[in-house]
Amino acid sequence: MKINLMEKNISGFSKLSKIEKINWLIKTYFNNDFSFKNTLINYWNSNNKLQDLHDEFVENTVSNFYLPLGVAPNFIINGKPYALPMAIEESSVIAAASKTAKYWSSRGGFKAEVLGMEKIGHVHFLYKGDYEKISRFIKSIKSKLKKSTFNITKKMESRGGGITSISLINKTNKLKNYFQLELIFNTVDSMGANFINSCLEEFAKNLIIEASAYKYFSIEEKNIEIVMSILSNYVPGCLVKASVSCLINDLEEESEMSKNDFCEKFVRAVNIAEIEPYRAVTHNKGIMNGVDALVLATGNDFRAVEAGVHAYASRNGTYSSLSKAWIENKKFNFELTIPLSIGTVGGIISIHPLVKWSLNLLDNPNSSKLMELIAVAGLAQNFGAIRSLITSGIQKGHMKMHLTNILNQLDASSIQKNKAIEYFKKNKVSLQAVSTFLNLHDDLL
Ligand code: MEV
Repeated sequence: MKINLMEKNISGFSKLSKIEKINWLIKTYFNNDFSFKNTLINYWNSNNKLQDLHDEFVENTVSNFYLPLGVAPNFIINGKPYALPMAIEESSVIAAASKTAKYWSSRGGFKAEVLGMEKIGHVHFLYKGDYEKISRFIKSIKSKLKKSTFNITKKMESRGGGITSISLINKTNKLKNYFQLELIFNTVDSMGANFINSCLEEFAKNLIIEASAYKYFSIEEKNIEIVMSILSNYVPGCLVKASVSCLINDLEEESEMSKNDFCEKFVRAVNIAEIEPYRAVTHNKGIMNGVDALVLATGNDFRAVEAGVHAYASRNGTYSSLSKAWIENKKFNFELTIPLSIGTVGGIISIHPLVKWSLNLLDNPNSSKLMELIAVAGLAQNFGAIRSLITSGIQKGHMKMHLTNILNQLDASSIQKNKAIEYFKKNKVSLQAVSTFLNLHDDLL
């Protein structure tokens, strides 16, 4: 059968109303099956104002895509109690965070500190000429370039931020004629993506103007080519550290092993993630379970955070663990350092009601405080995962939630659910086993 590709294409889709867009999709991709239309409409918010708000967050909106928002209570962070909001679809993550929070709340809690707040961006350009000359040229126009961004930076400067350094980077050993103008920024409480990119684009524009007027440049040297101007999501200067520590003797008694053995096995598990990329990726994924859930709940860009964190995990040439664990003077120590470019103002942060709710729950932190909380969520998740992995194994905890998901998928009644939860405490969970169990108990529907 030949498919007419053009039949499934449309021009002017963005100009259609929401309902026109949906109708076109149902006709074109769902064979006019209107149950698919209802699926979308069922997820609209009954409060029209709220729905309009969500419709305007992105383009071509047809519905809302919900994630559960849960809360992990009992965190003590730098001596202060917190309940962390977590937006995540994966079962067991919030349970693990809550369990770990409680564990450490009676052992001094979590410590966290911001090590740096520098954001970074580049004007990537090609220059065909002498390095000494471009270096002198950039030095001579630095303050002019900075002044050219005055309208963009004045508000940020009044809040204590702005452009903190400008340097020329010679990359010609990697790519012919390739240079960068590297700018470092302090964006205070905003993530600052728009601010940084606006500054960089203004720099790029003025770089061209200044170069064409620079009397010491030859015609060819004047002809600077801007390739692009963009922030970097790799922010090794925007770092935060979270840690826990206590005497080995003060650790909880694990059922199958002594406190000493637990501690040594824990350190070994982290050592493996330090030297083995296959394990490091999964180890770090566990950390990101906590990080992303809090990043999302506070309206931040988790793709930017993910990209930056994984680049940082490879900074020494091999992908490695983001956390460290060690024993010193009979003390167990566990620490996580990650780069985090996030904000507490700007973007959807000030307009999404659930983001506002989450920030209120956290006592409206500034961005450095929020960095600390996010790093703690990552460390807690990592502790919970490793603790399970080296003792009971990860499946025991997972299976409970997995069972709930299967029961919901199979439309079990609440009586069937309770029976199944009892039964599967001692039996292996699988879709087939749960389905058979429900068939045997269909009188409980
Ligand atoms: C699952 O989402 C995360 C873990 O795989 C993390 C880990 O292995 O450390 C449990």
